[in-house]
Amino acid sequence: MTSEELTSAPEARPGPGGGNRVMAFDRYGDPDVLAPADLPIPSPAADEVLVRVAAAGVNPADALVRSGRARRFIRVQLPFVPGSDVAGVVEAVGARVDTFRPGDRIFAMSPAATGGAYARYARIPARYAAAAPAGLPLAEAAAIPLAALTALQALRDEAHLADGAQLLVYGASGGVGHFAVQIGTALGARITAVTSGRNAAFVAGLGTAVVDYERQDTATLGARFDVVFDAVGKLPFRRSRQLLTPGGTAVTVHPFAGRLVPDWLAWTRGGRRLRSVVVRPDGRDLDTLARWVGERRLHPAIERRYPLHHAPAAHRRIETGRVRGKLTLIVDPDLAGTAAATEIVGGQAA
Ligand SMILES: NC(=O)c1ccc[n+]([C@@H]2O[C@H](COP(=O)([O-])OP(=O)(O)OC[C@H]3O[C@@H](n4cnc5c(N)ncnc54)[C@H](OP(=O)(O)O)[C@@H]3O)[C@@H](O)[C@H]2O)c1
Repeated sequence: MTSEELTSAPEARPGPGGGNRVMAFDRYGDPDVLAPADLPIPSPAADEVLVRVAAAGVNPADALVRSGRARRFIRVQLPFVPGSDVAGVVEAVGARVDTFRPGDRIFAMSPAATGGAYARYARIPARYAAAAPAGLPLAEAAAIPLAALTALQALRDEAHLADGAQLLVYGASGGVGHFAVQIGTALGARITAVTSGRNAAFVAGLGTAVVDYERQDTATLGARFDVVFDAVGKLPFRRSRQLLTPGGTAVTVHPFAGRLVPDWLAWTRGGRRLRSVVVRPDGRDLDTLARWVGERRLHPAIERRYPLHHAPAAHRRIETGRVRGKLTLIVDPDLAGTAAATEIVGGQAA
């Protein structure tokens, strides 16, 4: 990819203090298609904020988009700057934005098809942003948006998780899963978490009962749950159903669950429901998450931080499907409140 190609991005214009250093790809492929490039700093539209990015979160969807495997569902314009999770400081606001001012610390989710977080500057609709959790370094706030919103919207909106409900979280060690355990607890559920032996101590540290799926088949659990949340999309639908109480709800991150269940009647008999969650950006939901962070009910676990230009290594790691908690890219170490060097926090590096 040449910087000339990228510089011709239509909405971009030269901005104050030089250009916008990004990691971008101009063709689909393996992680090494991600390359540094310099773009003009974008201007925020009327309903947008321009963010000086401190750190960006890394999600499996970033790698899916980059690989081209999601092309049929998530259309992006090449060259493309990936990244849905942003934490940083507002640099400028559009004419209609009255919720944020320059200098505000924010975190936000950009839709996967828009991306833009792997950059020094990103523009985001103001309604997709919220004040970053007070007291939390932006390096950590960047790990929260997409994965925690997925867990919140799955449990609250799809499952209607009630206070005191029995919740099973399958795949509790990943980005979505470790937030689901904490959010389920914040919503008043009693939780059983399924994970591998390698991650059992980490998940138990979130304050939940743990089932090691390598030692115990979920079919032999005996217990029944009001809500089963498959946070990795790997639990067979039939198995989810076996784990539900009559009237219970299974929610999966698998976006097409409803279409794939072979025997819909068998599901609905007994009032059991199967739902898919499809995460949506929402600043008010981020406010809820920030409040829980402030109340010490929610905290991101970060397996590893990478400097922005190590995005290919971060993509190789996320593609293993074995990340414990989250990965982040540090864009501006001073703003992020962390060291520039690659660092391991609570977990084994790749
Ligand atoms: N529908 C949506 O809107 C939406 C939103 C966000 C994410 N997603 C999807 O949800 C999935 C999870 O996202 P994520 O960010 O949490 O990914 P992630 O952080 O990469 O998940 C990694 C975790 O998954 C666990 N895992 C892998 N295979 C497992 C299995 N067979 N059984 C139980 N756990 C397993 C691993 O733990 P072990 O090594 O211990 O097994 C690891 O800790 C991805 O496919 C992502 O694309 C969908």
